Amino acid sequence: MNKEELIREAFQAMKNTYSPYSNFPVGAALLTKDGRVFYGANIENASYPAGNCAERSALFSAYSNGVRKDDIEALAIVSEGKRISSPCGICRQVLHELLNPDTPIYLANRTETKTVTPQEILPDAFGKEDLAE
Ligand code: THU
Repeated sequence: MNKEELIREAFQAMKNTYSPYSNFPVGAALLTKDGRVFYGANIENASYPAGNCAERSALFSAYSNGVRKDDIEALAIVSEGKRISSPCGICRQVLHELLNPDTPIYLANRTETKTVTPQEILPDAFGKEDLAE
C-alpha cells in the first residue's frame, strides 16, 4: 500500500469520528510492514479531556493487537481542515514512545500532503532512556 492509498484509508477511518463537541473529524490509518491496517478516529467526551485523538486511537489499536514500533511502516493522519492539521502535544509524546524516530507520518487534508517524522515534530523528547538508571 502506498502513501496515497494509506491516506485514503485514513479518510475512511475519519467517517467513524465521534466529535459532537468540536465538529472537527480526524482520521488515522496505521500500516504495518506485513500489510495490515489499523484505524483510528477522534472520540470525544462531554468531559472534554477524556476524549482521544485519532492518531492515538490508531496506535493504541495496533499495540492492543500486538503490533510494536519495529512492525510499523507508516501512519497517516487526515482532517477536513483548510490547513493540514498537525498532531497535538500529547500525541507527539505518544508518537515518540510508540513509533521509531524516522517512521513516516503522512499529514493530509483534501488538497495537500506533508510527510514528517516523530523526531522532527518532537525534538529533545523525554523518553524511556531518561528513566533508565
Ligand atoms: N484531534 C485529533 O484527533 N488529532 C490531531 O492531530 C489534532 C486534534 C482532535 C481532538 C479533538 O477531538 C478535535 O480534533 C479538535 O481538537
